[in-house]
Amino acid sequence: MAALIVDAEYLKEIDKARRELRALIAKKNCAPIMLRLAWHDAGTYDAESKTGGPNGSIRNEAEYSHGANSGLKIALDLCEDVKTKHPKISYADLYQLAGVVAVEVTGGPDISFVPGRKDSNACTDEGRLPDANQGFKHLKDVFYRMGLSDKDIVALSGAHTLGRAHPERSGFDGPWTEDPLKFDNSYFVELLKEEESEGLLKLSTDKSLLEVPEFRQYVELYAKNEDVFFRDYAESHKKLSELGFTPTSTVTMAITDCTALAHTAVGVAVAAAVVAFSYFYEIRRKMK
Ligand code: HEM
Repeated sequence: MAALIVDAEYLKEIDKARRELRALIAKKNCAPIMLRLAWHDAGTYDAESKTGGPNGSIRNEAEYSHGANSGLKIALDLCEDVKTKHPKISYADLYQLAGVVAVEVTGGPDISFVPGRKDSNACTDEGRLPDANQGFKHLKDVFYRMGLSDKDIVALSGAHTLGRAHPERSGFDGPWTEDPLKFDNSYFVELLKEEESEGLLKLSTDKSLLEVPEFRQYVELYAKNEDVFFRDYAESHKKLSELGFTPTSTVTMAITDCTALAHTAVGVAVAAAVVAFSYFYEIRRKMK
């Protein structure tokens, strides 16, 4: 695949796609499934073999037809409308941008988004995403494989503040919280209640967050302090969305592709300018 060049034009397209995603998500109330799509594209990452991860491979039938991805074709099709209008943007960037926007428009924290992920057609084998019927050991196996920590596991599980399970997709039924279109810390508040609230769901994996102190300490902290949850969630989500992706390497690739610039002072200056541009783009966006 040709190198993905993150230049001013690309950043402008990202900005436009972000606006469109905001409108689309508001119109279709589809924040939860967009977030689940971003997570399922990224959550296949294996830090040792450096395979899987947020590379857009979930758009291929070989991957979206995995049992764990049931229902996600809906989100893929919604994203396709945005891709048609902004063909320059990689699927990998588009899906992660959709996840970030989904959190933001439902009242969650701002998550820093750095573009430049390359698309891949290398689909991973089924079985890399977590199985909801298992416990804490399984969660550790799966998330450690990605290179994530206990804190990331708990913070990211808080994404179940959004959305619900659908019997025809996963076999489970119901939302985790009273307001599944609002991103807040109520997932943790519900998890700690001794009496289960009627109609709300707790998966085995959710309950397992209470079983070991290294998880439980964060559940208690996040239930008590939403600001800390938002801070940690934003950090963990950014990590998840960048598994196997080093933002500066795309910039370097864009430079080395252009042999005239390679290894010259001009090349270095251009690289620095692009990095600075991306940085100011992010700051400017946050100030909006
Ligand atoms: C910790 C292990 C996890 C397990 C076992 C798990 C399992 C599940 C299951 C079974 C569903 C129901 C799917 C359906 O029937 O539609 C679901 C939904 C969802 N998951 Fe997870 N999940 C996990 C982690 C995560 C993470 C890390 C995120 C995001 C960062 C996430 C975001 C979501 C969202 C937003 C939904 C709602 C989707 C909708 O309403 O359409 N999950 N998850």
